[in-house]
Amino acid sequence: MAYKNFSTEQLQAADNAHHLHPFTDHDELRQAGVRVVTGAEGHFIHDSEGRSILDGMAGLWCVNVGYGRDELADVACQQMKELAYYNTFFKSTHPPAALLAKRLAELAPANINQVFYGASGSESNDTAIRTVRHFWALQGKPEKNIIISRNDAYHGSTIAATSMGGMSAMHGQLGPRVPGFVHVMAPYAYELAKPGESDEAFGLRAAKAVEDAIVAAGPENVAAFVGEPIQGAGGVKIPPASYWPEIQRICKKYDILLMIDEVITGFGRTGSWFACQSMGIEPDTMTIAKGLTSGYQPLSAVLVGDRMADVLAKGGEYYHGYTYSGHPVCCAVALANIDIIEREGLIDRVRDDTGPYLVERLKAVVGDHPIAGEIRGYGLLAAIEIVSDRDSKQRFEPAGHGASLVRDHSIAAGMMMRAVGDTMILSPPLTWTRETIDMATDIVKTALDGAQKELGV
Ligand SMILES: Cc1ncc(COP(=O)(O)O)c(C=O)c1O
Repeated sequence: MAYKNFSTEQLQAADNAHHLHPFTDHDELRQAGVRVVTGAEGHFIHDSEGRSILDGMAGLWCVNVGYGRDELADVACQQMKELAYYNTFFKSTHPPAALLAKRLAELAPANINQVFYGASGSESNDTAIRTVRHFWALQGKPEKNIIISRNDAYHGSTIAATSMGGMSAMHGQLGPRVPGFVHVMAPYAYELAKPGESDEAFGLRAAKAVEDAIVAAGPENVAAFVGEPIQGAGGVKIPPASYWPEIQRICKKYDILLMIDEVITGFGRTGSWFACQSMGIEPDTMTIAKGLTSGYQPLSAVLVGDRMADVLAKGGEYYHGYTYSGHPVCCAVALANIDIIEREGLIDRVRDDTGPYLVERLKAVVGDHPIAGEIRGYGLLAAIEIVSDRDSKQRFEPAGHGASLVRDHSIAAGMMMRAVGDTMILSPPLTWTRETIDMATDIVKTALDGAQKELGV
Protein backbone atom coordinates (compact mmCIF):
# COMPACT_ATOMS: atom_id res chain seq x y z
CA MET A 1 0.00 0.00 0.00
CA ALA A 2 1.24 3.50 -0.81
CA TYR A 3 0.90 4.64 2.81
CA LYS A 4 3.48 2.06 3.91
CA ASN A 5 6.08 4.73 3.07
CA PHE A 6 4.81 7.02 5.81
CA SER A 7 6.14 6.94 9.35
CA THR A 8 3.87 6.81 12.39
CA GLU A 9 4.80 10.44 13.14
CA GLN A 10 3.86 11.59 9.64
CA LEU A 11 0.52 9.80 9.81
CA GLN A 12 -0.20 11.19 13.27
CA ALA A 13 0.72 14.69 12.12
CA ALA A 14 -1.65 14.46 9.13
CA ASP A 15 -4.39 13.15 11.37
CA ASN A 16 -3.86 15.75 14.09
CA ALA A 17 -3.92 18.56 11.57
CA HIS A 18 -6.94 17.52 9.53
CA HIS A 19 -9.05 14.71 10.95
CA LEU A 20 -12.07 15.38 13.14
CA HIS A 21 -12.87 12.06 14.84
CA PRO A 22 -16.27 10.87 16.01
CA PHE A 23 -17.05 10.99 19.75
CA THR A 24 -13.59 12.38 20.55
CA ASP A 25 -12.13 15.11 22.75
CA HIS A 26 -9.49 16.39 20.33
CA ASP A 27 -7.34 18.12 22.92
CA GLU A 28 -7.10 14.88 24.82
CA LEU A 29 -6.42 12.93 21.61
CA ARG A 30 -3.61 15.23 20.54
CA GLN A 31 -1.94 14.95 23.91
CA ALA A 32 -2.21 11.17 23.95
CA GLY A 33 -1.26 10.72 20.27
CA VAL A 34 -3.59 8.91 17.92
CA ARG A 35 -3.11 5.16 17.44
CA VAL A 36 -2.51 4.29 13.79
CA VAL A 37 -4.14 0.96 13.01
CA THR A 38 -2.59 -0.48 9.88
CA GLY A 39 -3.94 -4.01 9.66
CA ALA A 40 -5.91 -6.78 11.32
CA GLU A 41 -6.09 -10.54 11.17
CA GLY A 42 -8.45 -12.89 12.94
CA HIS A 43 -8.99 -11.49 16.45
CA PHE A 44 -6.13 -8.99 16.48
CA ILE A 45 -5.61 -5.47 15.19
CA HIS A 46 -2.08 -4.31 14.36
CA ASP A 47 -0.76 -0.80 14.83
CA SER A 48 1.97 1.14 13.04
CA GLU A 49 4.39 0.44 15.89
CA GLY A 50 4.11 -3.30 15.36
CA ARG A 51 1.83 -3.99 18.34
CA SER A 52 -0.91 -6.60 18.11
CA ILE A 53 -3.98 -5.93 20.22
CA LEU A 54 -6.75 -8.45 20.89
CA ASP A 55 -9.98 -6.81 19.76
CA GLY A 56 -12.55 -7.24 22.51
CA MET A 57 -14.96 -4.90 20.71
CA ALA A 58 -15.06 -6.45 17.20
CA GLY A 59 -14.14 -3.02 15.86
CA LEU A 60 -17.24 -1.15 16.97
CA TRP A 61 -19.51 -4.12 17.76
CA CYS A 62 -19.44 -5.13 14.12
CA VAL A 63 -16.66 -7.46 12.93
CA ASN A 64 -18.66 -10.58 13.77
CA VAL A 65 -16.65 -12.97 11.56
CA GLY A 66 -13.25 -11.56 12.54
CA TYR A 67 -10.67 -9.81 10.37
CA GLY A 68 -8.81 -10.80 7.23
CA ARG A 69 -11.47 -12.82 5.42
CA ASP A 70 -10.19 -13.17 1.85
CA GLU A 71 -13.58 -14.52 0.81
CA LEU A 72 -15.25 -11.18 1.58
CA ALA A 73 -12.51 -9.20 -0.14
CA ASP A 74 -12.82 -11.40 -3.24
CA VAL A 75 -16.60 -11.01 -3.40
CA ALA A 76 -16.25 -7.22 -3.11
CA CYS A 77 -13.61 -7.13 -5.82
CA GLN A 78 -15.62 -9.31 -8.20
CA GLN A 79 -18.80 -7.29 -7.62
CA MET A 80 -16.95 -4.01 -8.26
CA LYS A 81 -15.76 -5.37 -11.58
CA GLU A 82 -19.19 -6.66 -12.60
CA LEU A 83 -21.36 -3.80 -11.33
CA ALA A 84 -19.68 -1.31 -9.01
CA TYR A 85 -22.82 0.75 -8.60
CA TYR A 86 -26.29 1.24 -9.81
CA ASN A 87 -29.20 2.84 -8.01
CA THR A 88 -32.37 1.09 -6.94
CA PHE A 89 -34.59 4.12 -7.61
CA PHE A 90 -35.30 3.91 -11.34
CA LYS A 91 -37.48 0.79 -11.33
CA SER A 92 -34.15 -1.09 -11.14
CA THR A 93 -32.61 -3.68 -8.93
CA HIS A 94 -29.55 -5.90 -9.19
CA PRO A 95 -28.82 -9.47 -8.11
CA PRO A 96 -27.11 -8.71 -4.74
CA ALA A 97 -29.88 -6.35 -3.51
CA ALA A 98 -32.68 -8.69 -4.57
CA LEU A 99 -31.06 -11.84 -3.22
CA LEU A 100 -30.00 -10.26 0.07
CA ALA A 101 -33.56 -8.98 0.64
CA LYS A 102 -34.84 -12.54 0.11
CA ARG A 103 -32.21 -13.94 2.46
CA LEU A 104 -32.96 -11.40 5.18
CA ALA A 105 -36.67 -12.15 4.94
CA GLU A 106 -35.88 -15.84 5.44
CA LEU A 107 -33.72 -15.15 8.51
CA ALA A 108 -36.03 -12.58 10.14
CA PRO A 109 -39.05 -13.34 12.33
CA ALA A 110 -41.93 -14.81 10.28
CA ASN A 111 -43.98 -11.59 10.12
CA ILE A 112 -41.12 -9.69 8.43
CA ASN A 113 -40.70 -9.94 4.67
CA GLN A 114 -39.64 -6.54 3.29
CA VAL A 115 -36.29 -4.73 3.35
CA PHE A 116 -35.40 -1.03 2.92
CA TYR A 117 -31.64 -0.47 2.61
CA GLY A 118 -29.38 2.27 3.98
CA ALA A 119 -25.68 2.67 4.64
CA SER A 120 -25.52 3.13 8.42
CA GLY A 121 -27.48 2.30 11.53
CA SER A 122 -28.32 5.97 12.06
CA GLU A 123 -29.66 6.31 8.54
CA SER A 124 -31.82 3.23 8.94
CA ASN A 125 -33.25 4.48 12.19
CA ASP A 126 -34.18 7.70 10.38
CA THR A 127 -35.87 5.52 7.78
CA ALA A 128 -37.70 3.60 10.50
CA ILE A 129 -38.95 6.84 12.10
CA ARG A 130 -40.21 8.20 8.79
CA THR A 131 -41.74 4.88 7.84
CA VAL A 132 -43.79 4.35 11.00
CA ARG A 133 -45.08 7.92 10.78
CA HIS A 134 -45.87 7.46 7.08
CA PHE A 135 -47.68 4.20 7.88
CA TRP A 136 -50.06 5.92 10.28
CA ALA A 137 -50.50 8.94 8.01
CA LEU A 138 -51.49 6.64 5.13
CA GLN A 139 -54.28 5.37 7.36
CA GLY A 140 -55.57 8.86 8.05
CA LYS A 141 -53.87 9.13 11.45
CA PRO A 142 -51.01 11.63 10.96
CA GLU A 143 -51.36 12.73 14.58
CA LYS A 144 -50.27 9.24 15.67
CA ASN A 145 -46.59 10.22 15.45
CA ILE A 146 -45.02 10.18 18.93
CA ILE A 147 -42.34 7.57 19.49
CA ILE A 148 -41.62 6.39 23.03
CA SER A 149 -37.94 5.68 23.65
CA ARG A 150 -35.74 5.17 26.72
CA ASN A 151 -33.04 6.97 28.65
CA ASP A 152 -29.57 5.82 27.61
CA ALA A 153 -30.86 4.44 24.31
CA TYR A 154 -28.45 4.83 21.40
CA HIS A 155 -29.96 4.86 17.93
CA GLY A 156 -27.30 6.83 16.06
CA SER A 157 -25.98 10.33 15.52
CA THR A 158 -28.16 11.97 12.88
CA ILE A 159 -30.45 14.66 14.21
CA ALA A 160 -33.49 12.37 14.24
CA ALA A 161 -31.60 9.37 15.66
CA THR A 162 -30.04 11.56 18.37
CA SER A 163 -33.47 12.95 19.25
CA MET A 164 -34.90 9.44 19.43
CA GLY A 165 -31.92 8.21 21.46
CA GLY A 166 -31.78 8.85 25.16
CA MET A 167 -28.22 10.13 25.62
CA SER A 168 -28.45 13.36 27.60
CA ALA A 169 -24.90 14.44 26.65
CA MET A 170 -25.84 14.18 22.98
CA HIS A 171 -29.12 16.04 23.51
CA GLY A 172 -27.09 18.82 25.13
CA GLN A 173 -25.20 19.41 21.87
CA LEU A 174 -28.15 19.14 19.52
CA GLY A 175 -29.91 22.49 19.66
CA PRO A 176 -33.64 22.04 19.10
CA ARG A 177 -34.53 18.35 19.08
CA VAL A 178 -36.81 16.77 16.52
CA PRO A 179 -40.18 16.83 18.25
CA GLY A 180 -42.27 13.77 18.97
CA PHE A 181 -39.96 11.66 21.13
CA VAL A 182 -40.72 10.82 24.76
CA HIS A 183 -38.17 9.07 26.96
CA VAL A 184 -38.85 6.72 29.86
CA MET A 185 -36.63 4.83 32.29
CA ALA A 186 -34.17 2.25 31.02
CA PRO A 187 -34.66 -1.36 32.19
CA TYR A 188 -31.42 -1.14 34.16
CA ALA A 189 -31.90 -3.09 37.37
CA TYR A 190 -28.36 -2.62 38.68
CA GLU A 191 -28.94 1.10 39.31
CA LEU A 192 -32.68 1.50 39.18
CA ALA A 193 -34.20 -1.48 41.01
CA LYS A 194 -35.52 -0.64 44.49
CA PRO A 195 -34.02 -2.44 47.49
CA GLY A 196 -35.53 -5.92 47.65
CA GLU A 197 -37.30 -5.56 44.28
CA SER A 198 -37.11 -8.81 42.28
CA ASP A 199 -35.83 -8.81 38.73
CA GLU A 200 -39.26 -9.78 37.52
CA ALA A 201 -40.99 -6.98 39.40
CA PHE A 202 -38.41 -4.46 38.18
CA GLY A 203 -38.91 -5.57 34.56
CA LEU A 204 -42.67 -5.09 34.90
CA ARG A 205 -42.18 -1.67 36.52
CA ALA A 206 -39.87 -0.56 33.71
CA ALA A 207 -42.47 -1.73 31.16
CA LYS A 208 -45.20 0.08 33.12
CA ALA A 209 -43.25 3.31 32.55
CA VAL A 210 -43.85 2.78 28.82
CA GLU A 211 -47.57 2.21 29.38
CA ASP A 212 -47.78 5.33 31.55
CA ALA A 213 -46.10 7.38 28.80
CA ILE A 214 -48.53 6.03 26.19
CA VAL A 215 -51.53 6.88 28.37
CA ALA A 216 -50.10 10.34 29.18
CA ALA A 217 -49.55 11.17 25.50
CA GLY A 218 -52.86 9.54 24.47
CA PRO A 219 -52.58 6.27 22.52
CA GLU A 220 -54.18 8.02 19.53
CA ASN A 221 -51.02 10.18 19.35
CA VAL A 222 -48.42 7.42 19.79
CA ALA A 223 -46.95 5.76 16.70
CA ALA A 224 -44.47 3.35 18.24
CA PHE A 225 -42.22 2.23 21.03
CA VAL A 226 -38.56 1.85 20.08
CA GLY A 227 -35.86 -0.13 21.84
CA GLU A 228 -32.64 -2.06 21.51
CA PRO A 229 -33.29 -5.59 22.85
CA ILE A 230 -30.17 -4.98 24.98
CA GLN A 231 -29.06 -1.37 25.32
CA GLY A 232 -25.56 -1.59 23.88
CA ALA A 233 -23.78 1.76 23.81
CA GLY A 234 -25.83 2.70 26.88
CA GLY A 235 -23.84 0.10 28.85
CA VAL A 236 -25.01 -3.40 27.82
CA LYS A 237 -28.16 -3.06 29.87
CA ILE A 238 -29.94 -6.40 29.72
CA PRO A 239 -33.62 -6.20 30.65
CA PRO A 240 -35.13 -8.77 33.00
CA ALA A 241 -37.00 -11.62 31.26
CA SER A 242 -40.34 -10.07 32.27
CA TYR A 243 -39.69 -6.84 30.31
CA TRP A 244 -40.10 -7.60 26.60
CA PRO A 245 -43.22 -9.81 26.85
CA GLU A 246 -44.88 -7.03 28.84
CA ILE A 247 -43.80 -4.38 26.31
CA GLN A 248 -45.23 -6.56 23.55
CA ARG A 249 -48.52 -6.86 25.43
CA ILE A 250 -48.70 -3.10 26.03
CA CYS A 251 -47.99 -2.28 22.37
CA LYS A 252 -50.77 -4.65 21.25
CA LYS A 253 -53.21 -3.30 23.84
CA TYR A 254 -52.84 0.31 22.63
CA ASP A 255 -52.19 -0.49 18.94
CA ILE A 256 -48.66 0.93 19.06
CA LEU A 257 -46.00 -0.31 16.63
CA LEU A 258 -42.87 -1.98 18.01
CA MET A 259 -39.59 -0.72 16.51
CA ILE A 260 -36.61 -2.87 17.44
CA ASP A 261 -33.05 -1.68 16.92
CA GLU A 262 -30.89 -4.75 16.25
CA VAL A 263 -27.88 -2.80 14.98
CA ILE A 264 -25.66 -4.36 17.66
CA THR A 265 -27.65 -7.44 18.59
CA GLY A 266 -28.22 -8.79 15.06
CA PHE A 267 -26.28 -11.47 13.22
CA GLY A 268 -25.53 -13.88 16.01
CA ARG A 269 -24.37 -11.60 18.81
CA THR A 270 -27.01 -12.94 21.22
CA GLY A 271 -26.98 -16.57 20.07
CA SER A 272 -29.75 -16.24 17.46
CA TRP A 273 -29.74 -14.46 14.14
CA PHE A 274 -31.58 -11.65 15.93
CA ALA A 275 -32.12 -10.92 19.61
CA CYS A 276 -35.86 -10.72 18.85
CA GLN A 277 -35.74 -14.47 18.35
CA SER A 278 -33.73 -15.04 21.55
CA MET A 279 -36.18 -12.90 23.51
CA GLY A 280 -39.47 -13.73 21.80
CA ILE A 281 -40.11 -10.21 20.48
CA GLU A 282 -42.31 -9.66 17.39
CA PRO A 283 -41.23 -6.34 15.90
CA ASP A 284 -42.98 -4.23 13.26
CA THR A 285 -39.66 -2.71 12.19
CA MET A 286 -36.20 -4.07 12.82
CA THR A 287 -33.11 -1.95 12.14
CA ILE A 288 -29.93 -3.81 11.23
CA ALA A 289 -26.35 -2.79 10.29
CA LYS A 290 -22.88 -3.64 11.69
CA GLY A 291 -22.83 -7.49 11.75
CA LEU A 292 -24.82 -7.55 8.49
CA THR A 293 -21.49 -7.21 6.65
CA SER A 294 -19.23 -7.71 9.69
CA GLY A 295 -18.10 -4.14 8.99
CA TYR A 296 -16.42 -5.12 5.71
CA GLN A 297 -18.73 -2.70 3.89
CA PRO A 298 -21.13 -0.03 5.20
CA LEU A 299 -24.66 -1.38 4.90
CA SER A 300 -27.84 -1.19 6.95
CA ALA A 301 -31.51 -1.90 6.51
CA VAL A 302 -34.90 -1.58 8.06
CA LEU A 303 -36.81 -4.83 7.92
CA VAL A 304 -40.51 -4.04 7.72
CA GLY A 305 -43.28 -6.27 9.04
CA ASP A 306 -46.22 -7.40 6.89
CA ARG A 307 -48.78 -5.20 8.59
CA MET A 308 -46.83 -2.07 7.65
CA ALA A 309 -45.56 -3.33 4.30
CA ASP A 310 -49.09 -4.06 3.05
CA VAL A 311 -50.18 -0.48 3.78
CA LEU A 312 -46.98 1.05 2.34
CA ALA A 313 -47.30 -0.98 -0.85
CA LYS A 314 -50.72 0.55 -1.53
CA GLY A 315 -49.70 4.04 -0.43
CA GLY A 316 -48.35 5.44 -3.71
CA GLU A 317 -44.80 6.73 -4.04
CA TYR A 318 -42.85 7.01 -0.79
CA TYR A 319 -40.52 10.00 -1.17
CA HIS A 320 -37.59 8.52 0.69
CA GLY A 321 -34.29 6.84 -0.22
CA TYR A 322 -30.52 7.11 -0.37
CA THR A 323 -28.06 7.05 -3.27
CA TYR A 324 -26.50 4.00 -1.68
CA SER A 325 -29.75 2.16 -0.80
CA GLY A 326 -28.93 -1.44 -1.68
CA HIS A 327 -25.37 -0.76 -2.84
CA PRO A 328 -24.41 -3.85 -4.91
CA VAL A 329 -20.93 -4.30 -3.44
CA CYS A 330 -22.20 -4.01 0.14
CA CYS A 331 -25.10 -6.40 -0.51
CA ALA A 332 -22.78 -8.95 -2.15
CA VAL A 333 -20.46 -8.80 0.86
CA ALA A 334 -23.43 -9.16 3.24
CA LEU A 335 -24.56 -12.32 1.45
CA ALA A 336 -21.07 -13.82 1.71
CA ASN A 337 -20.80 -12.74 5.36
CA ILE A 338 -24.12 -14.45 6.19
CA ASP A 339 -22.80 -17.57 4.44
CA ILE A 340 -19.74 -17.55 6.72
CA ILE A 341 -21.81 -17.12 9.89
CA GLU A 342 -24.00 -20.03 8.79
CA ARG A 343 -21.25 -22.33 7.46
CA GLU A 344 -19.08 -21.94 10.55
CA GLY A 345 -21.97 -22.47 12.96
CA LEU A 346 -21.07 -19.25 14.78
CA ILE A 347 -24.55 -18.66 16.16
CA ASP A 348 -24.84 -22.09 17.78
CA ARG A 349 -21.35 -21.67 19.18
CA VAL A 350 -22.23 -18.33 20.79
CA ARG A 351 -25.49 -19.67 22.20
CA ASP A 352 -24.24 -23.01 23.51
CA ASP A 353 -20.56 -22.53 24.20
CA THR A 354 -18.64 -19.25 24.03
CA GLY A 355 -21.47 -16.98 25.20
CA PRO A 356 -22.09 -18.78 28.50
CA TYR A 357 -18.35 -19.41 28.88
CA LEU A 358 -17.47 -15.71 28.60
CA VAL A 359 -19.64 -14.71 31.56
CA GLU A 360 -18.67 -17.82 33.52
CA ARG A 361 -14.95 -17.05 33.08
CA LEU A 362 -15.36 -13.36 33.89
CA LYS A 363 -17.19 -14.28 37.10
CA ALA A 364 -14.58 -16.90 37.97
CA VAL A 365 -11.57 -14.65 37.32
CA VAL A 366 -12.76 -11.19 38.47
CA GLY A 367 -16.12 -11.89 40.12
CA ASP A 368 -14.80 -10.92 43.54
CA HIS A 369 -12.44 -8.16 42.40
CA PRO A 370 -12.72 -5.16 44.74
CA ILE A 371 -13.58 -2.70 41.92
CA ALA A 372 -15.87 -5.03 39.94
CA GLY A 373 -19.59 -4.72 40.64
CA GLU A 374 -22.13 -6.70 38.64
CA ILE A 375 -20.85 -8.87 35.80
CA ARG A 376 -23.51 -9.69 33.23
CA GLY A 377 -23.72 -11.02 29.72
CA TYR A 378 -25.96 -12.29 26.97
CA GLY A 379 -24.45 -14.18 24.07
CA LEU A 380 -21.10 -12.59 23.25
CA LEU A 381 -21.95 -9.31 24.93
CA ALA A 382 -20.66 -8.71 28.43
CA ALA A 383 -20.40 -5.87 30.93
CA ILE A 384 -18.58 -5.25 34.19
CA GLU A 385 -19.72 -2.43 36.45
CA ILE A 386 -16.79 -0.51 37.93
CA VAL A 387 -17.37 0.55 41.53
CA SER A 388 -15.39 1.88 44.45
CA ASP A 389 -17.62 -0.09 46.81
CA ARG A 390 -19.32 -3.31 45.79
CA ASP A 391 -22.04 -3.26 48.46
CA SER A 392 -23.19 0.32 48.06
CA LYS A 393 -22.45 0.31 44.28
CA GLN A 394 -20.61 3.60 44.83
CA ARG A 395 -18.73 4.85 41.73
CA PHE A 396 -15.34 6.53 41.48
CA GLU A 397 -15.24 10.33 41.07
CA PRO A 398 -15.53 11.92 38.59
CA ALA A 399 -18.11 9.80 36.78
CA GLY A 400 -16.50 7.42 34.32
CA HIS A 401 -12.99 7.86 35.73
CA GLY A 402 -12.64 4.30 37.10
CA ALA A 403 -13.77 2.67 33.88
CA SER A 404 -11.51 4.87 31.69
CA LEU A 405 -8.54 3.72 33.77
CA VAL A 406 -9.56 0.07 33.35
CA ARG A 407 -9.82 0.64 29.59
CA ASP A 408 -6.36 2.23 29.44
CA HIS A 409 -4.83 -0.60 31.44
CA SER A 410 -6.59 -3.15 29.25
CA ILE A 411 -5.18 -1.62 26.06
CA ALA A 412 -1.72 -1.42 27.65
CA ALA A 413 -2.04 -5.12 28.52
CA GLY A 414 -3.02 -5.96 24.94
CA MET A 415 -6.82 -5.86 24.58
CA MET A 416 -9.30 -3.32 23.26
CA MET A 417 -12.17 -2.94 25.69
CA ARG A 418 -14.70 -0.13 25.77
CA ALA A 419 -15.61 2.04 28.75
CA VAL A 420 -19.16 3.41 28.69
CA GLY A 421 -19.66 5.68 31.66
CA ASP A 422 -18.78 3.45 34.62
CA THR A 423 -19.26 0.20 32.73
CA MET A 424 -16.70 -1.92 30.88
CA ILE A 425 -17.90 -3.63 27.74
CA LEU A 426 -16.81 -6.67 25.75
CA SER A 427 -18.40 -7.39 22.36
CA PRO A 428 -15.84 -9.52 20.54
CA PRO A 429 -15.89 -11.27 17.16
CA LEU A 430 -18.16 -14.32 17.24
CA THR A 431 -15.15 -16.39 16.19
CA TRP A 432 -13.58 -16.13 19.65
CA THR A 433 -12.83 -19.55 21.12
CA ARG A 434 -12.60 -20.65 24.75
CA GLU A 435 -8.83 -20.06 24.50
CA THR A 436 -9.37 -16.49 23.33
CA ILE A 437 -11.80 -15.95 26.19
CA ASP A 438 -9.22 -17.27 28.67
CA MET A 439 -6.66 -14.82 27.28
CA ALA A 440 -9.18 -11.97 27.39
CA THR A 441 -10.30 -12.61 30.96
CA ASP A 442 -6.69 -12.71 32.13
CA ILE A 443 -6.20 -9.29 30.56
CA VAL A 444 -9.38 -8.04 32.24
CA LYS A 445 -7.89 -9.07 35.58
CA THR A 446 -4.59 -7.31 34.82
CA ALA A 447 -6.54 -4.19 33.82
CA LEU A 448 -8.68 -4.20 36.96
CA ASP A 449 -5.60 -4.74 39.13
CA GLY A 450 -3.77 -1.88 37.38
CA ALA A 451 -6.68 0.50 37.73
CA GLN A 452 -7.23 -0.46 41.37
CA LYS A 453 -3.60 0.30 42.15
CA GLU A 454 -3.74 3.63 40.35
CA LEU A 455 -6.96 4.55 42.15
CA GLY A 456 -5.32 3.68 45.44
CA VAL A 457 -8.11 1.48 46.75
C1 LIG B 1 -28.18 0.17 18.67
C2 LIG B 1 -27.55 1.09 17.67
N1 LIG B 1 -28.32 1.70 16.76
C3 LIG B 1 -27.81 2.50 15.84
C4 LIG B 1 -26.47 2.77 15.80
C5 LIG B 1 -25.92 3.72 14.79
O1 LIG B 1 -25.24 3.03 13.80
P1 LIG B 1 -24.21 3.82 12.86
O2 LIG B 1 -23.05 4.22 13.72
O3 LIG B 1 -23.87 2.80 11.81
O4 LIG B 1 -24.92 4.98 12.31
C6 LIG B 1 -25.62 2.15 16.72
C7 LIG B 1 -24.17 2.39 16.70
O5 LIG B 1 -23.43 1.97 17.56
C8 LIG B 1 -26.18 1.31 17.69
O6 LIG B 1 -25.43 0.74 18.63
